[in-house]
Amino acid sequence: MKIKNKEKDLGKLSWEKFYSLPLNEKLGYFEKDGRMFDCLFSQQLSSQNLRTLFDLANKIRKVAKEKGGLDWLQTLLSHKRAMLYFVQPSTRTFVSFQSACYILGMKVSEIRSTSTSSELKGESPEDTIRTFSSYADLIIMRHFEEGIAEKSAWMLNKTKRPISVINGGSGKDQHPTQALLDLYTLDLSFKDKGGIDNKTIVMVGDLKRGRTVRSLSYLLQNYKNVKIIYVAPDYLKIGNDIKDFLKKHKMSFKESNELIKFLPDADAVYMTRIQDEYDINNESKNIDYSKFHLKKEHMKLMKKSAIIMHPLPRRQEIDVAVDNDPRAMYWRQERNGMWVRTALIAYLFRIENEINRY
Ligand code: CP
Repeated sequence: MKIKNKEKDLGKLSWEKFYSLPLNEKLGYFEKDGRMFDCLFSQQLSSQNLRTLFDLANKIRKVAKEKGGLDWLQTLLSHKRAMLYFVQPSTRTFVSFQSACYILGMKVSEIRSTSTSSELKGESPEDTIRTFSSYADLIIMRHFEEGIAEKSAWMLNKTKRPISVINGGSGKDQHPTQALLDLYTLDLSFKDKGGIDNKTIVMVGDLKRGRTVRSLSYLLQNYKNVKIIYVAPDYLKIGNDIKDFLKKHKMSFKESNELIKFLPDADAVYMTRIQDEYDINNESKNIDYSKFHLKKEHMKLMKKSAIIMHPLPRRQEIDVAVDNDPRAMYWRQERNGMWVRTALIAYLFRIENEINRY
């Protein structure tokens, strides 16, 4: 009861005041009956949530293998509609969420650019989102503006028709479902090797502006004794906010600008591309990024049991010759995204018990 009142009070705050609150003080606002209602931040995903979602994803992919199973899954949310509002470029997040909706039988609408929505006529993003809630039961969104997914959920939770919002990437800020699929991939890969605990993850590339490494770093707090090694050019080092978070949670991390030195230690190498869409004055054009490329000749330096991940899309950070190495996990990683996103949608609509009973 106390929590409910507190949540009500949070709803009375102005957006500016709400936005400035520390995350732990406002996460409850995005829950209903003690369960995640909106998926906006990695920090919402506890180890218990993660286990539930991974097991559910495993169950869904098994059920969907048979036509009868897939046909049954497609009846579960056939009365629900999803809005895919993706106004920043995306291939796999968009298509995997769209596929996830189809697996559960949802009807899907999409807007993929503010140049084709009434935002071009001056409608605010807030009114645009409010409009989606007139037609849809779920909004999945990717946006160039930081905080807009949170603002959308904050606003809709105050209306008479609150619907869940999933953050499919917001500015340079967070991409929680990417972190979810990254962890699902790690979980599957280390299933017979003691799980994610005690593993060394080397994250490489544009760590300053890559929201996937930020979200993954937050989520790794759910595992014991994980070591993170951040390898980046000096200008693109991981932000102090992440380092402060890791220190606060007593998580082990190192920073370096030498990829080769740390390859033999890695249980997983997480490559990322340069995020030059965030350049203001072409500043990253002068960085020699080639030292942060993974090449075929590097494979012999890595453990046989290690895996290579990438949120994709890639440019040259992973040589295409690496694709044939059994440790290359990135194509399976993107497919895992479809299954774990299906599990997330099923969880938000509270149908996980029904699926698990199948
Ligand atoms: N990893 C990822 O978010 O890919 P897209 O930008 O293609 O969605």
